[in-house]
Amino acid sequence: VLQQELAGQPPYVILRAAFDLYGPAAAISFSGAEDVALLGLARDEALQFRVFTLDTGRLHPQTLQFLDTVRQTLAPELEVQFPQAQAVQELVRRKGLFSFYQDGHQECCAVRKVEPLRRMLATVPAWITGQRKDQSPDTRAEVPVVQVDMAFSTPERPLLKWNPLANWSSQMVWKYIRAAELPYNSLHDQGFVSIGCEPCTRALRPGEHERAARWWWEAATQKECGLHSVK
Ligand code: ADX
Ligand code: SF4
Repeated sequence: VLQQELAGQPPYVILRAAFDLYGPAAAISFSGAEDVALLGLARDEALQFRVFTLDTGRLHPQTLQFLDTVRQTLAPELEVQFPQAQAVQELVRRKGLFSFYQDGHQECCAVRKVEPLRRMLATVPAWITGQRKDQSPDTRAEVPVVQVDMAFSTPERPLLKWNPLANWSSQMVWKYIRAAELPYNSLHDQGFVSIGCEPCTRALRPGEHERAARWWWEAATQKECGLHSVK
């Protein structure tokens, strides 16, 4: 029902609906890229949410700097969630630091992103992401503005995932970032569009879709790391 009511609504209406349901306990999952728009919209609407980011240990220095800028401006209580040291050590001891180029990114993402996310999500009633339909024609064309999170819900605890930017295009996001004069990741000025971990992200070449610059050695349909892969 929520999904139908909110399907065609602008992002700030969706954010407000999430706030009306959960108040400040809901958390925005912030990647350090253009999803800074979510934080700007929440500020415009005077809505306070928790804000967290997953520091995989493999982010670009520019992304870390940007996270700190965001902490000083838009999200003073930014929560930085780290992977379990033991699990990272074990993976690196077994397979080295670049195993993803050999046998795919799933295993490393599971340790560095998915497990830390699962731990974070156990502490919130709902989460809010910057996923958009136009980010990936292969995997995100159907992203609804609100959905039951089938990957992180448990039988005792259904978890809703909100995607207020689902219907915005990249162009609309950037138009808003500029109009609202939000800070942004300096990698965007160097040809980076979609930004993830440093070894798994490259700048975009002319004519490419933004998703081409993530895990570029893998097939388009595999380009989900487990944060959003299971519907
Ligand atoms: S990913 O699954 O490929 O890594 P993408 O970069 O497209 O995700 O970002 C989509 C949304 O996932 C972001 O707007 C954000 O809500 C969430 N997300 C992705 N990476 C992170 C991260 N490192 N920390 C927190 N949230 C993230
Ligand atoms: Fe590891 Fe790359 Fe996934 Fe980052 S994006 S967690 S470096 S496989």
